[in-house]
Amino acid sequence: MITGEAFAEPPATQFSLREIHHIKSLSSQHLDTKNDPSNRVSGNPAAIAFGSTLFFEPQLSGDGTMACSSCHKPDESWANHQSMTSLRPQHTITRHVPSLWGVKYNRWYFWDGRTDSLWSQALKPIENIAEMAGSRTQIAHLIINKSRLRQQYEALFGAIPSLLLAANLSKKAYPIPHDPQQPAHIAWQQLPFSVQQAINTLFSNIGKSIAAFEETLLANNTLFDQFSNRLKANSTTYPTDLLSPAAIRGLKLFINKAGCINCHSGANFSDGEFHHPFLKANTESNDFGRYDAIKTLLSDPFNGKSTFSDAKSSRNKLDYVYQNIEFRGQFKTPSLRNIAHTYPYMHTGEFKRLRDVLNYYNSISKQMNDRNKHQEILLKSLALSTQEINDLVVFLTSLSDIKQ
Ligand code: HEC
Ligand code: HEC
Repeated sequence: MITGEAFAEPPATQFSLREIHHIKSLSSQHLDTKNDPSNRVSGNPAAIAFGSTLFFEPQLSGDGTMACSSCHKPDESWANHQSMTSLRPQHTITRHVPSLWGVKYNRWYFWDGRTDSLWSQALKPIENIAEMAGSRTQIAHLIINKSRLRQQYEALFGAIPSLLLAANLSKKAYPIPHDPQQPAHIAWQQLPFSVQQAINTLFSNIGKSIAAFEETLLANNTLFDQFSNRLKANSTTYPTDLLSPAAIRGLKLFINKAGCINCHSGANFSDGEFHHPFLKANTESNDFGRYDAIKTLLSDPFNGKSTFSDAKSSRNKLDYVYQNIEFRGQFKTPSLRNIAHTYPYMHTGEFKRLRDVLNYYNSISKQMNDRNKHQEILLKSLALSTQEINDLVVFLTSLSDIKQ
């Protein structure tokens, strides 16, 4: 753990060698450029083009009105400035739409990590009643009957199997094991097993194509990256033409006294894991986050241990996942790349400005003691001044891609 207290702070115009090391660890140069081994079309240009078509295609939804892009809006940083309650008032989604910048680098997906790959994540909103309310069977029907989609699909994954061409796929049909009386579940049960398997394969290929597209949404060229790339590993002085003095002070706080780097670590500004943020809405609701998600993740028929994964390795991160009461109320550490553009903040979407998030962090320890016995040891009382909060906000703004 980096507390900063044990180290004498260098003058404002210099960094210590330890600070240089931390700053370099956050640079986009260290982002992993490898393709996803569980997705054989990851990085494939034809899949990226097909996935982009699918991402913007409202026909993937049950009533033909909702695309992925209806919620993850390209001009709102692939997130959504509205809260879910105002976006879908007739439904009860309480979590805020996350941005898709750098989503390729996440280890787990959703705020609670209930899927383990980008492609298996993409399948969930399609069949979620509160999101697109479609079904895998209708997607198969759509791909077979829309020639422009079918051409793109077959060029990537080969000819649609004849047993699918012969089946009646027009009904909404998908498995709903927790509610077997649903008409869509009954319709699914009526399909022969071989047809179900062929539909599932096609469905996973749709997810893999969408994921190939999402992997291209990157925010890797920020002022901060340019700054850290120009730092020399063995020199304590730094270039002064990229970040303002306030941003430099904010950066020093981020890696030292404020301890942000303990969780927002590495080039994606996330440890990829889960922590308890002690939000009021969180501690008062029944949203147990990571705790409930583990069961869903381990029983997901499209997870990394399923036959739909293309990964060859026998080692799997799921082998290390277990349910523990400590995980109650934990949510994923989000990336901070392009953070100035992805408001509102937190899984609850309760903060409109970065300043509000920082004020919250500043007041956190009192709330922790009041409400919880649970300890999140990496969060501590910060006692930041108004100037320090301003400096952190300026630093966070330097994490915006130059194109934004
Ligand atoms: C009705 C709005 C809505 C639609 C439509 C929608 N999403 Fe989302 N998306 C959300 C919300 C809300 C979450 C967070 C839910 C949660 O964590 O429980 C989310 C989470 C995600 C995540 C997880 C990001 C991360 O960092 O973990 C990805 C990726 C994603 N959506 C992609 C898609 C794709 C691909 C589609 C289309 C197939 C889609 N979404 C359709 C609202 C939507
Ligand atoms: C204990 C780990 C931890 C530490 C330390 C930490 N964060 Fe976070 N951060 C998180 C988690 C987890 C979330 C998501 C919480 C949620 O939505 O419930 C988050 C959310 C955020 C968000 C909102 C992101 C979004 O997309 O909604 C910002 C901004 C942020 N943190 C900045 C900071 C800064 C700046 C610091 C240092 C003052 C810091 N964090 C310290 C774990 C941490």
